[in-house]
Amino acid sequence: MPPSPRVKYSLRCIDCGADYAPKDVLYLCSKCKGLLDVVLKYDEVDVEKLHLKPFNTDLQVWKYRELLPIEDYTQVISLGEGGTKLYRCLRIGNVIGLGKLYVKNEGGNPTGSFKDRGMTVGVTRALELGAKATACASTGNTSASLAAYSAKAGLNCIVLIPSGKIAIGKLAQAVAHGAKVIAIKGDFDHALKLIRDLCEKHSIYLLNSINPYRLEGQKTLAYEVFEQLGCRIPDVMVVPVGNAGNISAIWKGFKELKLLGVTDKLPRMIGVQAAGAAPIASMMAKGMKQLEPVEKPETIATAIRIGYPVNWKKAVRAVNESKGAVTVVTDEEIVEAQKAAARLEGLFIEAASAASIAGLKRALQEGIVDKDEVVVCVATGHGLKDPGIIERLYEKPIEVEASLERVLNLIGRVESGQL
Ligand code: F0G
Repeated sequence: MPPSPRVKYSLRCIDCGADYAPKDVLYLCSKCKGLLDVVLKYDEVDVEKLHLKPFNTDLQVWKYRELLPIEDYTQVISLGEGGTKLYRCLRIGNVIGLGKLYVKNEGGNPTGSFKDRGMTVGVTRALELGAKATACASTGNTSASLAAYSAKAGLNCIVLIPSGKIAIGKLAQAVAHGAKVIAIKGDFDHALKLIRDLCEKHSIYLLNSINPYRLEGQKTLAYEVFEQLGCRIPDVMVVPVGNAGNISAIWKGFKELKLLGVTDKLPRMIGVQAAGAAPIASMMAKGMKQLEPVEKPETIATAIRIGYPVNWKKAVRAVNESKGAVTVVTDEEIVEAQKAAARLEGLFIEAASAASIAGLKRALQEGIVDKDEVVVCVATGHGLKDPGIIERLYEKPIEVEASLERVLNLIGRVESGQL
């Protein structure tokens, strides 16, 4: 007999507060179409079973199964996600004027991005619900991750991507894992609308971040940071924002630690958007209550090239509740930060991930973050996902004839600082 659910929970609408028992497929509130949160019965959680330990190195998503809404933990679809390293980054810290900078390197996940935290829970839930197929729209990483986890689960996987706008490494992953990849002539926002319609009309399980189970997996990043910092909460978390699921999930994770009585403190959440795709930043700057979509989003950081983030309300809630902010960075600042991570810290992170470091630099300059605070930047994906950026914007390798003289000649120029 399968073990009974460890944690009782309901799905609650963030707008009207309607509660739903988690028995059917449900992505939005049936009454008002609001986004849904998984709300656990926190007073029934045995905190001891979480085994929270200062500087713990034995971490992974399912370590926190007491807080994950899955019925049978013996049937989880896992590739060993989570437990990513938290690096102290002294050299970048020196350059930008911050003593206690950490980078949580989510590129260390099985498919190279934070999406795996969400997919292990989401695809496990798909199986529990009896789904035969999964689907998503994606700027790349979601599709790579969903394709891999669906393959492991034996589920068909359908992926809609904006044609010509996803990085080659991510596309290669989705194709390699056997997903049905469809490139549409439109951007991510069009793709998401199409896939939502498709999943509504056919019994295909949608695994974009509108799915609250996925965000449950992603919240575990907060628990890990807490343990890795010695059972302490950072002052500030900096998170790149695209569809706005991750910042919401991480905030939920921290809030849960407080609800469980593990800590009194909460971090300020700073979201970072790229200048050409910054609808949340601009709505907050203008003090507006509704989001005005960006019609033709554009940025080199294709992962966050999104004009209408579905989770904007959750993200705004995270930023407001935490007294945080949303900053905006240019493509030039993103590339500069990517170089800094690679060349000062040995961390090869993708452009969207580097937005967090670029955003932190801005936040320091603008006085939103103080130089003595403990700050964690989330590096959401691996640099190898998008080799095209390096090819286009970085130095080219120098080609010479295969002679020692020519090579020495070049090295000489390197030594004299000429190259
Ligand atoms: N960083 C990377 C590397 C991403 O791939 C994404 C989102 C984000 C940040 C933003 O996270 O959407 O939760 O705010 N990528 C999605 C995708 C949209 O389809 O792979 P978010």
